[in-house]
Amino acid sequence: MKTSERVERVPPSGIRRFFELAEEMDDVISLGVGEPDFTAPWSAREAAIDSLEHGRTSYTANRGMASLREAIAERAAAQYGLDYDPDEEVLVTAGASEAIDVAFRAFVDPGDRVAVAQPSYVSYVPGVTFAGGEPVPIPTREADDFELTVEALREHGAGDAEALVFCYPNNPTGATMSERDLEPIADFAREHDLTVLADEIYADLTYEGEHTSIATLPGMRERTVVFNGFSKAYAMTGLRLGYALAPPEGIRAMNRVHQYSMLSAPTTAQYAALDALDNCEAQVREMCNQYDRRRRFVLSRFDEMGIDCFTAKGAFYVFPESPWEDAEAFAEALLESEGVAVVPGDIFGAGGEGHLRVSYATGIGELREAMDRIERFLD
Ligand SMILES: Cc1ncc(COP(=O)(O)O)c(C=O)c1O
Repeated sequence: MKTSERVERVPPSGIRRFFELAEEMDDVISLGVGEPDFTAPWSAREAAIDSLEHGRTSYTANRGMASLREAIAERAAAQYGLDYDPDEEVLVTAGASEAIDVAFRAFVDPGDRVAVAQPSYVSYVPGVTFAGGEPVPIPTREADDFELTVEALREHGAGDAEALVFCYPNNPTGATMSERDLEPIADFAREHDLTVLADEIYADLTYEGEHTSIATLPGMRERTVVFNGFSKAYAMTGLRLGYALAPPEGIRAMNRVHQYSMLSAPTTAQYAALDALDNCEAQVREMCNQYDRRRRFVLSRFDEMGIDCFTAKGAFYVFPESPWEDAEAFAEALLESEGVAVVPGDIFGAGGEGHLRVSYATGIGELREAMDRIERFLD
């Protein structure tokens, strides 16, 4: 069977390889996954069940249920000052993943250059490639707190790109960017007429400072697409629900792709999401507090072990320097000898070399045990 050259250009996911290795072993503590260990709040699950009991098993409007789009727009306005019209500027998708994929297909023409701030979530580069674009990696550095800088954008040729994609709070580094840090990036985007694709799926999981969306900066709303979703803050990964916020022409273009590929996001999940927005703020706050406690625990344990670790301020990852120069060899050896799974940082692209991604979306008991095992391994 002939497969497409675009697909063949993209290697299989490096993270998956580590999961598969870990799955073959007993007594493994996985700090490798980017998935909450919590279950979705009960009232959101109940809303999903209730929707099924009432036979709400049809498609919804392509863009998502009007009530959900309204609730999303209200929340974005109240929490982050993002002001979007639910009828024209919100698209509900099957996870933020679908929103991101649809955006690449809606905004990228064959050969277009798309600047991708790295290290970053592993889907951006494949997504750009599948859309026929040319990914342009823009490394961030620990010396800059893994923030995107104008110097890096200039040095790596982002000025010639059509679009820029980045994610703060960041997967895998846990870095965040304040309003002040985002201002020069916004200036650069305006100056070079870039479309900005801002993945803000971890916005609710910000532990130090406040999350700022680049779309709130002057002149940015009209050139920005914001992605968010329910997987992380609401622990709803399996329900597959996300959304995009963008000016009408952006949502119209994205919906053109979405309506032919997905039709509409899962209906049951849309009911769960509506309830999550209406009723689950306290649970989100509680999960967020627990992540924060774990974050501080993991950072202090690495510090005690003498492992350099950037102070992650958001998401649920820390990104320590690998104790061995070869981070992949370290991760494999740690897995084999102590049964602790972490992910080598170079999987996340430029700037990730020599680091490890450690997820703390794991119960505190297991985290304690994992940290003890890492310490024993280093001894
Ligand atoms: C930065 C980032 N964006 C998007 C996603 C995908 O989210 P969803 O489950 O909503 O598709 C992930 C999942 O790990 C992520 O880390």
